[in-house]
Amino acid sequence: MSGVVLVGVQWGDEGKGKITDLLASQFDYVVRFQGGNNAGHTVIHDGVKLQLHLIPSGIMYPDVVPVIGNGCVIDPKVLLREMKTLEDQDISTERLLISTNAHLIMPYHRDLDGASELRLGANEIGTTRRGIGPAYSDKATRLGIRMQDLFDRSIFREKVAAALVETNDVLEKIYGLSPYSVEEIAEEYLEYAEILKPHIAEISSILNGAISAGKNVFFEGAQGTLLDIDHGTYPFVTSSNPTAGGACIGTGVGPTRIKRVLGIAKAYITRVGSGPFPTELFDEDGDTFIEIGHEYGTTTGRQRRAGWYDAVITRYAVDVNGLTDLAITKLDVLSAFPTIKICTEYEDARGNRYKTVPGHQSAFHHATPLYEEMPGWNVDITHCRKFEELPQEAQDYINRLEELAGVPVSMIAVGPSREQTIIRRSLV
Ligand code: IMP
Repeated sequence: MSGVVLVGVQWGDEGKGKITDLLASQFDYVVRFQGGNNAGHTVIHDGVKLQLHLIPSGIMYPDVVPVIGNGCVIDPKVLLREMKTLEDQDISTERLLISTNAHLIMPYHRDLDGASELRLGANEIGTTRRGIGPAYSDKATRLGIRMQDLFDRSIFREKVAAALVETNDVLEKIYGLSPYSVEEIAEEYLEYAEILKPHIAEISSILNGAISAGKNVFFEGAQGTLLDIDHGTYPFVTSSNPTAGGACIGTGVGPTRIKRVLGIAKAYITRVGSGPFPTELFDEDGDTFIEIGHEYGTTTGRQRRAGWYDAVITRYAVDVNGLTDLAITKLDVLSAFPTIKICTEYEDARGNRYKTVPGHQSAFHHATPLYEEMPGWNVDITHCRKFEELPQEAQDYINRLEELAGVPVSMIAVGPSREQTIIRRSLV
């Protein structure tokens, strides 16, 4: 057996958590490979709603090993809080593995994230202000502090001191914020070391060994294709690689061991934060998506921006990720509409047409979506469990999305619970 990667097709919030939760029990390992506590998904355990930001949802299943990969950035305070919430609900966190090479989010990263957003003013990225960008920045400039540094007190102090030389100047002189001392950080972080120690591992060899032994490994992407720092709507992106290649980089598992890549797309599209969004709606239809789809962020509570399904973006995601399968989520939300639109192409001011995401940011910013219309079904579909049980109009809609994407729609979600899913093609 080998790996299956799950990625978001759009700008995140596609309902990846629900699909991961549904599939997790079929896997031996569920691995996060990028991002940090900017992500968020809700899991329901014994009727209790739990919000996870860092820990993979595989944690809910006693036979699954949840793993946080080297490509993630970890705020240890948030991680420990999540572990405690789970333990309080009698969900054991003992199996959790954390890469020794994962980078830590430090208190100054959170300060810098907030301060730089304030400085950008109207041009802000709209980050989650969790310190994600500054932590990846330090990783790239080789001033990052890694998980393994927590276990050598003198190395930890040396590295923090090196990072603070410049960071304190930036905090004080550019942003007028308070500087940090090595000691105050050491006092807080070295305390985390004791609790985290049993979980720290060299995960590349563990995952490769598991795949060689015939185990199933699920790579759980956070955010989405268009938030990828290389392939997304830069600079309105996150600072990691949520696309499928990120699964290899962020875990130390090679591409030849990945068997399937499942893209999750909502039956419409949403975005939080700033940046271009060709099919964004500012009318009643947009309000309907927000209200019926409960489009408010899990991490920040912000209202999402909403628009019609964009097949141009899906086609792009098929290429960038090498998708083998699609899952369409929240199809039930479309039951509210008498007519359904699909954006199949963009047009720019000069009348040029684009079937895939334009190469230049300005063309994308000013793209006018060209829509195809399909009749809606206007009936409740939340009870449907087989494709044939869907109204003909809903089947036609899915068939059209499949045709436009060029990959099979293997799963369809018709409601929030695990059971409200139509599975057309198994992944394992
Ligand atoms: P950051 O990841 O906090 O640096 O935020 C960068 C951009 O990514 C902002 O537009 C955020 O709103 C967006 N973003 C980050 N994480 C998520 C997510 O899990 N879902 C949706 N958008 C996200």
